[in-house]
Amino acid sequence: MNILIINGSPRGERSNSWQLANAFVAGMGESGKPLETQELSVSRLNIRPCLGCFSCWSKTPGQCCISDDMKSVIEKLLWADVTIWSFPLYYFSVPGPLKNLIDRQLPMVLPFMAEDGGETGSGSHPTRYDMSGKRTVVIST
Ligand SMILES: Cc1cc2nc3c(=O)[nH]c(=O)nc-3n(C[C@H](O)[C@H](O)[C@H](O)COP(=O)(O)O)c2cc1C
Repeated sequence: MNILIINGSPRGERSNSWQLANAFVAGMGESGKPLETQELSVSRLNIRPCLGCFSCWSKTPGQCCISDDMKSVIEKLLWADVTIWSFPLYYFSVPGPLKNLIDRQLPMVLPFMAEDGGETGSGSHPTRYDMSGKRTVVIST
């Protein structure tokens, strides 16, 4: 099973977020299933803010016009069976660099809404890729 930890704390390996995410993975390891884990420290990546140009939907479907580390983040999100988003609350939201990463996932979804409201039932864009069977874990300190 492939596990991706996205650590949104700028405090890296000293952070509560990092410690909690790694404790969670250690717990998963106790199941005996072979795990392959990769970690991303968001504040060490070069991820520029979304320009809101929608070229990833119209001009170059699935491809952002910005060339930076987000391309490899998307590859890792597609590689992972379980993605763990671990971050501190900053003003009741996520730290800025992590918000940039979240926004830059736009190429991963399609430019229309799901007729049935999507997985949440509250309206969402279907994914461009097969994400069935993938799991998301949210840890916030
Ligand atoms: C800029 C900033 C904003 C914060 N805003 C909140 C907040 O809205 N609510 C909260 O409970 N803690 C807030 N905190 C505290 C952090 O979430 C808390 O110290 C967290 O455990 C740090 O996690 P980390 O070690 O993973 O970075 C804030 C801290 C900073 C630096």
